[in-house]
Amino acid sequence: MPGDKSISHRCVMLGAIADGGTRVRGLLDGEDVLATVTAFRSMGVDIDGPHEGEAFIRGVGRDGLQAPAADIDLGNSGTAMRLLAGLLAGQRYDCALVGDASLSRRPMRRITEPLTLMGARIETAHGGTPPIRLRAGKGLASIDCTMSVASAQVKSGILLAGLYANGRTCVTEPVPTRDHTERMLAAFGVALAREGRRTCIEGGARLAATEMDVPGDISSAAFFLAAAAGRPGSDLLIRGVGVNPTRTGILTILERMGADICWSNRRTAGREPVADLRVQGTTLVGIDVDPGLVPLAIDEFPAIFAAAATARGVTRVTGAAELRVKESDRIAASAEALNALGVSVQVGDDGMTIEGGGMSGGEVDSAGDHRIAMAFASASAAAPVRIRNCRNVVTSFPGFESLANSVGFDIEVSLDDP
Ligand code: S3P
Repeated sequence: MPGDKSISHRCVMLGAIADGGTRVRGLLDGEDVLATVTAFRSMGVDIDGPHEGEAFIRGVGRDGLQAPAADIDLGNSGTAMRLLAGLLAGQRYDCALVGDASLSRRPMRRITEPLTLMGARIETAHGGTPPIRLRAGKGLASIDCTMSVASAQVKSGILLAGLYANGRTCVTEPVPTRDHTERMLAAFGVALAREGRRTCIEGGARLAATEMDVPGDISSAAFFLAAAAGRPGSDLLIRGVGVNPTRTGILTILERMGADICWSNRRTAGREPVADLRVQGTTLVGIDVDPGLVPLAIDEFPAIFAAAATARGVTRVTGAAELRVKESDRIAASAEALNALGVSVQVGDDGMTIEGGGMSGGEVDSAGDHRIAMAFASASAAAPVRIRNCRNVVTSFPGFESLANSVGFDIEVSLDDP
């Protein structure tokens, strides 16, 4: 699997502001992470690679970033934008964060509001969307805040701003979300106080460069896991997948649908748990997905919806309103795709009910969303499915098509896809 996208972004960000050089292995070379690499180069950080997953980041130290000459373009990446907003809120220069059409529609007040409380001079466009404009301020003050949305991006943005604040910044999340930032800050020598859903960071800490190994991305593995789990006769071994418990909701959900997934070779890489996962196909059954699992599988719902369509019985997902503000409105885009493939769905504000039983062939639009494209590409088995608008697969999974075809899928990419 390609390197974990969330962890790859964080390696580049923390490596850039560390003292000394950080070598990273397994870095994802998808466009989202490359946007983060380019952003730091524009702020004076020298980065070699990534070349075959290896990169070397010459950290400039906590206060060594320089003003970029132009707006920082983060392409399709919400993670890059929200984390960088936090990291740059305490810098002594003006800058602006911009993105593509999809990113330019996504909500940013969730991060700019707490940063404003910390004293950042930060603005969004009307409606709380990008661009985010940051102006040099007089330094940040620490806050103790409780987040209203379950968002690792917001939590991480606040913690990164907290590095530059005066005093101790604390953030409490409503439910646990991925904790890669916390683990990686610890790997760079920054002590965090973590108690339940509350995490605190002391301002002024310096980061010590280190070596990082990035595990395979469970969100990329999800397409293979979901497709193989629901196809009797499949037998797939996926090596080196990150199995951080804040990310394994997909495994729990598939197992509750009857999937046969076996973990082996458990180990640790860069403070993250890793395992090999073997999945053997069976007929899945529909379930009511526990809303408590939603944040732990937040990026995997396109794959879960597609698996539910081929399962026996009905699957209900609720408590997943956040899916509406991802790279696309993933509830609407998935429902439209399922309808186009002859699957009956009922759409709710915060989820969807799917009648299982199989999909027919047809044509779907990915809405420019990498995960919708890959979910339907790997789920289609019975009849040909044409998926439009797949270019953004390269944001998270370069080489998806050839890897998928090497294990028995039959995917053809048309060069005239817009
Ligand atoms: C991410 C957190 C999640 C996830 C995104 C990556 C991260 O977003 O959907 O793809 O790297 O922190 P939210 O935390 O906003 O839900």
